[in-house]
Amino acid sequence: MRIGIANDHSAVEMKQEVVAYLESKGHEVVNFGTDSHESIDYPQFGEMVANAVRDQEVDLGIAICGTGLGISLACNKVSGIRACVCSEPYTAKYSRLHNNCNVLCFGARVIGIELAKMIIDNFVETEFEGGRHQRRVDLISDIEARNKSL
Ligand code: RB5
Repeated sequence: MRIGIANDHSAVEMKQEVVAYLESKGHEVVNFGTDSHESIDYPQFGEMVANAVRDQEVDLGIAICGTGLGISLACNKVSGIRACVCSEPYTAKYSRLHNNCNVLCFGARVIGIELAKMIIDNFVETEFEGGRHQRRVDLISDIEARNKSL
């Protein structure tokens, strides 16, 4: 799978470990994040990985900041993006199964790398179930469409 990854200064080491982990599993990773510890603003990095997901340059995105929250909010402003913050594997699995989320977010200051790996595995290896969940995801897209015209 081709996976885009973005991070701010709080998540440089976490991002590097995640990239190594994904590559060890055979994924191709595109890095949209910073590799510097200099304080920067996470929205620009969230937008970059979200744009890549929207444009289908990558299959899924992973976005990491201190809490996962700020960067998820930025990702969710991009059309077609369903970004979710997950701090445990169950939510990560169901974010794909029921919500068809396409960007996984978490906090480098919240969880450790081993838990991050379990969360990532559940996200990356789970397919959207469709069916009644497609109708619900479509209703979310409808909200996005209605707000575009405002
Ligand atoms: C940066 O200090 C921190 O605010 C950021 O990484 C993130 O946690 C924001 O939501």
